Amino acid sequence: MAQLAVNVDHVATLRQARGVDYPDPAAAAVLVELAGADGVVIHLREDRRHINERDARVIRQLVRTKLILEMAPSRAMLEMAKEIAPHQATLVPETREEITTEGGLDLLANRDTVAGAIEFLHAAGIKASLFVDPEPEQMRAAAELSADVVELHTGAFCEARGEDQAKTEMARIARAAREAHSLGLTVHAGHGIGYTDIRDFSGIPEIAEFSIGHSIVSRAVLVGMDRAVREMLALVRGL
Ligand code: PXP
Repeated sequence: MAQLAVNVDHVATLRQARGVDYPDPAAAAVLVELAGADGVVIHLREDRRHINERDARVIRQLVRTKLILEMAPSRAMLEMAKEIAPHQATLVPETREEITTEGGLDLLANRDTVAGAIEFLHAAGIKASLFVDPEPEQMRAAAELSADVVELHTGAFCEARGEDQAKTEMARIARAAREAHSLGLTVHAGHGIGYTDIRDFSGIPEIAEFSIGHSIVSRAVLVGMDRAVREMLALVRGL
């Protein structure tokens, strides 16, 4: 049965829109867990545009399931990860101009940086996950780099226009998931997944966990966090 980790970044986005101290992503993290989620995800960006260091520290203390810290593979962020000590760090590419993470980490172009980051995380007792595009060569590189987890970037599928493109993108995800699983990697998936497209992942049992944020926080604004998480959990568990 697949698991669900809920990203609470966009609770902080709402707070930052006014520069005030509410709503608190730490309160959201507690509600997410009480609703039954299997983990909480935060992205501590280098520019701290939504989640800040205080949030990360407080959420780390509150979370009882597991905390997943998304971060760029920079020296400064690795030191921060060591201090926060999440259960898992997910390495993502980061540029300041992007609205959200745009592509996967290119493991072929950044092999040395990623290798150093994984070594650092392992020495600190933190599981290393790599957010990558669903391409076989990225799966092989992740395995060679001794990553624990690959998180397959589902953005291209979720943004696909028309059935043909969606089918092509889902086939890429399925192939990459099988490849990663056969290489001994744990397979996660995320980015852009909503309440209707989650059902399309039912044919990929290799995906052990989904990382979902924007759609859940958006629904929570209207129906409450507890209901928004429970509804997504029922869909994920029903896959
Ligand atoms: N996984 C990763 C690596 C991400 O960067 C994001 C976006 O922060 C997500 C999952 C969640 O994406 P969404 O908010 O679109 O559900």
